Amino acid sequence: MSEKTTRIVDLFDTLSFTKRVVCVKGWVRTRRGNKNIVFIELNDGSTIFNIQIVADVTSLGEDFLKLITTGSCIAVNGLLVESQGSNQSIEIQADKIKIYGIADPTIYPLQKKSHSLSFLREIAHLRLRTNTFGSIFRIRHHLAYAIHKYFNKKGFFYFHTPIITSSNAEGAGSMFQVTTLDIANCSKIKDGEVDYSQDFFGCSTNLTVSGQLEGELGAMALSKIYTFGPIFRSENSNTSRHLAEFWMIEPEVAFYDINDNMDLAEDFLKYIIFYVVKNCKNDIEFLNKTYDNELISRLNFVLNKQFIRLTYTESVKILEQSNKNFEYPIYWGADLQFEHERYLVEEYFKCPIIIIDYPKVIKSFYMKQNDDGKTVKGMDILFPYIGEIIGGSERESDYQKLLDRMEELHMSTNSLWWYLDTRRFGTAPHSGFGLGFERLVLFVTGMQNVRDVIPFPRTPKNTKF
Ligand code: 4AD
Ligand code: MG
Repeated sequence: MSEKTTRIVDLFDTLSFTKRVVCVKGWVRTRRGNKNIVFIELNDGSTIFNIQIVADVTSLGEDFLKLITTGSCIAVNGLLVESQGSNQSIEIQADKIKIYGIADPTIYPLQKKSHSLSFLREIAHLRLRTNTFGSIFRIRHHLAYAIHKYFNKKGFFYFHTPIITSSNAEGAGSMFQVTTLDIANCSKIKDGEVDYSQDFFGCSTNLTVSGQLEGELGAMALSKIYTFGPIFRSENSNTSRHLAEFWMIEPEVAFYDINDNMDLAEDFLKYIIFYVVKNCKNDIEFLNKTYDNELISRLNFVLNKQFIRLTYTESVKILEQSNKNFEYPIYWGADLQFEHERYLVEEYFKCPIIIIDYPKVIKSFYMKQNDDGKTVKGMDILFPYIGEIIGGSERESDYQKLLDRMEELHMSTNSLWWYLDTRRFGTAPHSGFGLGFERLVLFVTGMQNVRDVIPFPRTPKNTKF
């Protein structure tokens, strides 16, 4: 087995097909045959397609070939030829086979051709070896690559914001604490409050809920930055769209107003979706065929439609006039729930929408205040089946207005002194947004649950793998 290994995807490159000796390595999907000949379907994760290995029982040995069952890992040397069979274009006539690892068929859990997604979640360490999860994680990779490619092309710098932080960007109480203290036995100050001056950082710290605030500092120097990192939120929402650990992409741009921000977000989403439609054809076709036969048309639909832009006030009017019996009542000032978002996008507009000018009471402190005194320049992008995929805003760049708003919300201005400094020294209009990466992968793969688009999901009561 000394020859160079060829990835299975490269074997299927029909332009370079020649009859030749190759070496492939991968995991067995199925084995069938008779006493003369054995057919092995082999996959190495480089493509949705398996390569068929044809093994001659007499020359390779019956007992040896019997060890090669579903899930085992092998290397094969042999001649790549055009296939005699009608199910595949090419196959390898095995000359030598080496077994790296067997997978005892009496206990290997992936025996059936198809398993339920909920069963596969229980074996997340092995589900990666199925067609479905191979496709999903190849698409996830290509989406991440397309994101970096897009921003690089547009002159953005990839800016790394901290994961451990002592600030709370979103102002909500949904953070995971980071500490080296033994909370039960550490020294306390009055009223049993933990004395964090004894902690590793000398203060209370948490995992980040957003890279935005630090991202803004980057934009106030480099003009155009983006972050792409893990986010941690301990909100106890056990829904199909929430994770406790997820990935977010947060561009932040100096001199952009809310309209520039909307243009950027729409162009960005269309670019990355187009990129994977073009570069992940086989995987998307597989998912379309297997799970969601409207997937491809939905992706093309989003690419071809201009997103509809409207204000929060307009969307509340539409919802009020819908005569729908929503579980959560709708009125001006209410936060839009998933059912409201879905009605607007899927039933009313039948198109992705961007909602702007939200009531300030339901949005974060940093959003630019409108002259009406009631609303802020926030924007959410809503997608069919996903609801909110992007949340962002133009930022409040006026020092006094920002300070007043923080005080109004009883926020600690002391700990955010560095954030406020950007408004004291060379402040500038600027805007940005956050794209939830898993929600994007959900949309592009047609899957229904975010637990199925991240390799090892973290949700309440679940860190098994
Ligand atoms: O709307 P969010 O909370 O916005 C922010 O964090 C801003 N700081 C972004 C910015 O302006 N730079 O989150 C942004 C997106 C949401 O639209 C959603 O797609 C995703 O992040 N998201 C989640 N995805 C999975 N699980 C969760 N628990 C999520 N919470 C938010
Ligand atoms: Mg949001």
